[in-house]
Amino acid sequence: MAGSVALSQALSYARDLKSLYESSRVRERELEQTQERLRNAYQQSLQYAIDLRKTYRRLQQAIFQSLLGLANALEAKDPYTRGHSERVAALARRIALEVGVAPGAADTIARAGLLHDLGKIAIPEGLLRKPGALTGDEWAVMRQHPVVGAQIVAPLEFFAVGAVIVRHHHERHDGSGYPDGLRGALIPLGARIVAVADVYDALVSDRPYRSRLSHAEAARLIGVEAGRTLDAHLVALCIRLTGDAPPQHSV
Ligand SMILES: [Fe+2]
Repeated sequence: MAGSVALSQALSYARDLKSLYESSRVRERELEQTQERLRNAYQQSLQYAIDLRKTYRRLQQAIFQSLLGLANALEAKDPYTRGHSERVAALARRIALEVGVAPGAADTIARAGLLHDLGKIAIPEGLLRKPGALTGDEWAVMRQHPVVGAQIVAPLEFFAVGAVIVRHHHERHDGSGYPDGLRGALIPLGARIVAVADVYDALVSDRPYRSRLSHAEAARLIGVEAGRTLDAHLVALCIRLTGDAPPQHSV
């Protein structure tokens, strides 16, 4: 009798154990399915994030292209500045590569060269084309253009370095420039490069008050500024590069 009770209990335990085992297997499968669903959801949201990032980058590039178009349109209105930024960009890239800047960074410097005067869009046309000397107040307005230009390109995340170059392209080696009066090596290298290219191209371009200068005359004048308002090493490179292959003028 006692033996039969013990057997019946043992069978009951075994049934309970089996039932427990089966229910734990069911939960395990449910857990696996939940994990699988979570993995899929994670992959999907990752893909959404990647797609969103790509769209955002494409949007930023499109805005950059629009700003280039705007800068071109601004220059094209004035025969004296037409093509200036493209020449500054090309020369700035050559100087940058010559000084040892990596190609990608030289590209950014060239792009900043394309947009360096974009801020002039905020300067009244009468002031931009004024044939005579500017008054003190007019100069104060004109000096805003690097800051305005940097503000316009500021939302472009990929162009943060370029925005800094745009802001500082009128700083001078001796600290007498604007907007921040930076001096020497405190001026970002890209801005120093664009400054040299900007001054050289202005010298070899026609202006309302004078004809374009020869390379030799421009080299002499820019040489005077070496170590004063412009970085001497970059001036030397600019003179050598432009002497090897003077830039083409469309004006
Ligand atoms: Fe400028």
